[in-house]
Amino acid sequence: MSTQSHGCDVMIIGAGAAGLSLALQLADQHSIFLVAKGPLRDGASLYAQGGVAAVLTDKDSIDAHLMDTLEAGAGLCDETVVRHVVEQGRHCIRWLIDQGVDFTRHPGPPYSGDFGSYHLNREGGHAHRRIIHAADATGRAIVQTLEQRVRLHPRIRVLDYHNAVDLITAERHLPGSDMANRCLGGYLFDRKHGRVITVRAAHTVLATGGASKAYLYTSNPDVATGDGIAMAWRAGCRVGNLEFIQFHPTCLYHPQAKSFLLSEALRGEGAVLKRPDGHRFMPDHDERGELAPRDVVARAIDSEMKQHGLDFVLLDISHKPPEFTRTHFPTLVARCLEYGFDLTTAAVPVVPAAHYTCGGIVTDLNAQTDLPGLYAIGECAYTGLHGANRLASNSLLECLVFAQACARHIDQSPAETSQRNSTAVLPPWDESQVTDSDEEVVVSHNWDELRRFMWDYVGIVRTTKRLQRAAHRVALLQAEIDEYYGNFRVTNDLL
Ligand code: FAD
Ligand code: SIN
Repeated sequence: MSTQSHGCDVMIIGAGAAGLSLALQLADQHSIFLVAKGPLRDGASLYAQGGVAAVLTDKDSIDAHLMDTLEAGAGLCDETVVRHVVEQGRHCIRWLIDQGVDFTRHPGPPYSGDFGSYHLNREGGHAHRRIIHAADATGRAIVQTLEQRVRLHPRIRVLDYHNAVDLITAERHLPGSDMANRCLGGYLFDRKHGRVITVRAAHTVLATGGASKAYLYTSNPDVATGDGIAMAWRAGCRVGNLEFIQFHPTCLYHPQAKSFLLSEALRGEGAVLKRPDGHRFMPDHDERGELAPRDVVARAIDSEMKQHGLDFVLLDISHKPPEFTRTHFPTLVARCLEYGFDLTTAAVPVVPAAHYTCGGIVTDLNAQTDLPGLYAIGECAYTGLHGANRLASNSLLECLVFAQACARHIDQSPAETSQRNSTAVLPPWDESQVTDSDEEVVVSHNWDELRRFMWDYVGIVRTTKRLQRAAHRVALLQAEIDEYYGNFRVTNDLL
């Protein structure tokens, strides 16, 4: 049995844009554990390119951002939530700038207004330029800045290389106690020492990101395996909208590129999509052409590839002056060159890949889940903002808005809740019935199988028959995994 036990006021599982922002907003008042299953900065946030959508000029309006979000979401967004989020945009961008994030400035004289000196990108589905960015590596600028501040804060304890295994709830782990059901903390697998530790927390926040890594081809990093969504589900929380996986239309097609994303901001600056025979096909599918919402563009590419038997289509910005492309997209130009493509002079091959989990753990405007003491923020949450398809660059905005809402709610929660929770004695992780596995290869086989049939049967365009096939295979895998999990000691790969 593991005997290591630790306690804090707030345990934040996940250190992307959502988790880092929340930690910084709470740390002056609360002791924080900030948990990441790998290096602190490794998550989708680090790789964000286009930027953060917000209404920052007087040419734009809250109603316009609201309408674009509702339109992209195809009738399934919650309008109250959308309005709430877009109204918070300016405030959140101001907070990031105050933390030190260095967004790209407009080259000419400033426009009027507080944000008039910043350059704004345009992306698909947006009626206006409203995406503030740090060149084409916005996520890196945000994560690096917030991480530096987190590392310096005396009340934030960073637990990197700690993989959360499960949540601890009163109902499941303290049966017979008089405590009403709530989340009391969680078990974390300490990867460096190969053991499971117990963390007691007055408040637990899931900020674990999305699940796109469940697909064979994805723009996402390896950590995006939906762990938080699964933990919340196992603890009895509702999850929702999970059928809506967003496929990004333009990932570089190259065997070594691991689905490297080519930002939608390229199309915002005039890049066009063509078949290898040179035909520009987007106007045949939608009058908004390359700037239609992402689901429309991804489906159009999928249909062109299937109809014409293509392995890829082409993304072309070579009609723009090379200096323009190099200045606006320095990272993309450099990465493409590594793979032998010069974005400034020729079209590059692209394919769609799984990009964003529109659904997740059901939460309210305070980021509360169904389980008292448990919150969810960022991509793992289903707030109602995105509906059937997220509008480009609304995700980082959602991370920031709900981190702020969650911080406010935790700050205002009654002190006796925290005290009661912090004295509960939690059962340690029990390893008395398990042994070391002698065939760990099963784990990687199952993982490969899952990702392949998700891609083949639960992809951009779906049919009932293919979904039934996938459901059948999921059930078989689930039975195998349950048995394995019950018999063998946890490892990082198993989790
Ligand atoms: P993440 O940043 O993914 O962080 C998840 C964290 O959870 C990580 O620290 C991880 O280690 C941790 N974690 C996960 N599971 C566990 C576990 N079991 N135990 C412990 N820790 C765990 N959105 C935009 O708005 N604008 C953009 O320009 C943009 N560009 C993008 C480009 C790319 C290539 C990608 C992949 C996404 C992009 N997105 C963009 C989407 C956006 O980046 C993500 O939705 C957002 O960053 C998610 O942030 P997060 O904090 O919720 O999760
Ligand atoms: C991109 O830059 O194309 C990604 C933007 C997003 O996912 O919102």
